[in-house]
Amino acid sequence: MRVLAISGSLRRDSHNTLLLRAAAEHLPFGVELELWEGLREVPPYDQDDDVEPAPAAVAALRDAVAEADAVLIATPEYNHSIPGALKNALDWASRPYATNAFRGKPVAVIGASAGLFGAVWAQAELRKVLAAMGARVLDGGVAVGQAADKLDADGGLLDEALRERLDDLLGALLAETQPLRAAA
Ligand SMILES: Cc1cc2nc3c(=O)[nH]c(=O)nc-3n(C[C@H](O)[C@H](O)[C@H](O)COP(=O)(O)O)c2cc1C
Repeated sequence: MRVLAISGSLRRDSHNTLLLRAAAEHLPFGVELELWEGLREVPPYDQDDDVEPAPAAVAALRDAVAEADAVLIATPEYNHSIPGALKNALDWASRPYATNAFRGKPVAVIGASAGLFGAVWAQAELRKVLAAMGARVLDGGVAVGQAADKLDADGGLLDEALRERLDDLLGALLAETQPLRAAA
């Protein structure tokens, strides 16, 4: 089983990318976390360019989502919303609307911020966008505030309560894949 991990941050030392690395350590044996590294290459959405064949970076994203059993997105908060680069990639992934790769896909949202609140508003915004795309978005998330103190450089989550919260969320995400596998 494979979980596609998408970080909404392009920053080299991103707390959100580190949080995804931490999440990999919380997955059971046999479940692989693949970190998508293509965000920087996705061009600005232009409906005139949204034809076949899609731009290579867009096709790679759509394929990666389609082939994953579930998706885990870690978003920073920029001005109480999600970063433009992440929204742009999701806009591309949302087309064609009826058959987009996120439709029916189990997705969980987490987030980290330098400040106190752990990107809670951005997480809510992201859930709204994903729901509009037809994803099976899990309720709730994991909010890592003051992330510099809660994540170590190797991707370890240092807070016990947050570790438990992440375990619960990932368990719920993997459980969401079971009905899909049964139906396949
Ligand atoms: C343009 C911009 C806007 C930001 N807006 C918010 C915000 O609304 N709320 C918040 O808690 N942090 C905000 N921050 C701080 C980010 O949470 C912080 O930079 C965080 O580390 C970004 O995630 P990353 O480490 O994964 O890159 C903002 C940062 C930037 C660069």
